[in-house]
Amino acid sequence: MDLYEYQARDVFESHGVPVLRGITATTPDEAKQAAADLGTPVVVVKAQVKTGGRGKAGGVKVAKSADEAAEKAEQILGLDIKGHVVKKVMIAEGADIAEEYYFSILLDRAERRYLVMCSKEGGVEIEQLAVERPEALVREPIDPVAGLDEAKAREIATKAGFDDADADKLAPVFVKLYEVYTAEDASLVEVNPLVKTGAGDIIALDGKVTLDDNARFRHPDHEALVDIDATDPLELKAKKLDLNYVKLDGNVGVIGNGAGLVMSTLDVVAYAGEEFPGKPSPANFLDIGGGANAEVMANGLDVIIGDEQVKSVFVNVFGGITACDAVANGIVKAFEILKANGTEPKPLVVRLDGNNADLGRKILDEANLPGLERVDTMDGAARRAAELADQA
Ligand SMILES: Nc1ncnc2c1ncn2[C@@H]1O[C@H](COP(=O)(O)OP(=O)(O)OP(=O)(O)O)[C@@H](O)[C@H]1O
Ligand SMILES: [Mg+2]
Repeated sequence: MDLYEYQARDVFESHGVPVLRGITATTPDEAKQAAADLGTPVVVVKAQVKTGGRGKAGGVKVAKSADEAAEKAEQILGLDIKGHVVKKVMIAEGADIAEEYYFSILLDRAERRYLVMCSKEGGVEIEQLAVERPEALVREPIDPVAGLDEAKAREIATKAGFDDADADKLAPVFVKLYEVYTAEDASLVEVNPLVKTGAGDIIALDGKVTLDDNARFRHPDHEALVDIDATDPLELKAKKLDLNYVKLDGNVGVIGNGAGLVMSTLDVVAYAGEEFPGKPSPANFLDIGGGANAEVMANGLDVIIGDEQVKSVFVNVFGGITACDAVANGIVKAFEILKANGTEPKPLVVRLDGNNADLGRKILDEANLPGLERVDTMDGAARRAAELADQA
């Protein structure tokens, strides 16, 4: 999960990373009030969106009075930044910036280590710096067992070209950012810019934090950071139903049992879709797991059919511990549940194979469900589902 800047700011603060005060606002009036509450001569109105390049897109503006803050908030709220519409701004204290640096910690999966990156030249687009003048960006692998202590932090600062006085000030901030990274189970902590003020203080002026969702169980407090509004409503519904669902942007709904089978089903559907003029493609990933019962199947179908983009559905089941007859019964019952809910069915292609396939197929044939077709091969079924989506 990516955090908004204001959330990253709060997390930084809770770990003792120096940050400036900031208050969020969703209307110009709130922005005005926030600026008045901060009471500093200069505030910065900052778009809160989960994408980079906000400044360049006009999403970061300086204001010298509360009225001006309201004006700037009016301009920024509603702005579309790379497909992200700004619904919230943060009114931050204005910093007296002397220099802008860059610092980040991320996970280097290939090396099975953390990677710290640091540069004296922050603020700008770091990707560009990395390409044009890689020597200006220090990359230091960190052994997760050894961690980042102050000595190592100083070493990194020195490598990046900071003098001793600056390195002394930066090292404890680096260590605190590393604490954020490990204590919060983050996979990215990035500060751009990390600034030195006119008074010589080091402050994290912008923060990007990605938390590892697999560690969520260790952090009940992270639940509060989830942005319900920005979560896809179908994914939200699926999550409530405890389904492993990921929304994609095609028009063929996909259900299967087992993550591996579903992954390959997505490929097969995408491949089959190439043949048709509309290039139908998968609308989602949905794994109903090994022990799929009628309720899970009904919930899955309900979520998928509820997706307006979906024109056909491909149910791909390989019977294992849960045999095909159980799955077939589940499909029949799912149709009853959907009918009772008043959900209009969509063309459905079912492929059943594996344990008790014959019995499962027989159950489906006898049930004679509206819009349901049976195709016995995975490729054939994918092709038919793609065709049905293309015709719709
Ligand atoms: N509180 C502040 N006080 C003074 N200047 C600021 C403040 N916050 C940001 N700035 C200035 O605005 C620039 C851009 O801000 P910031 O880094 O937050 O956004 P961005 O880098 O454009 O967005 P992103 O990080 O999403 O790419 C900073 O480099 C800094 O010069
Ligand atoms: Mg930035």
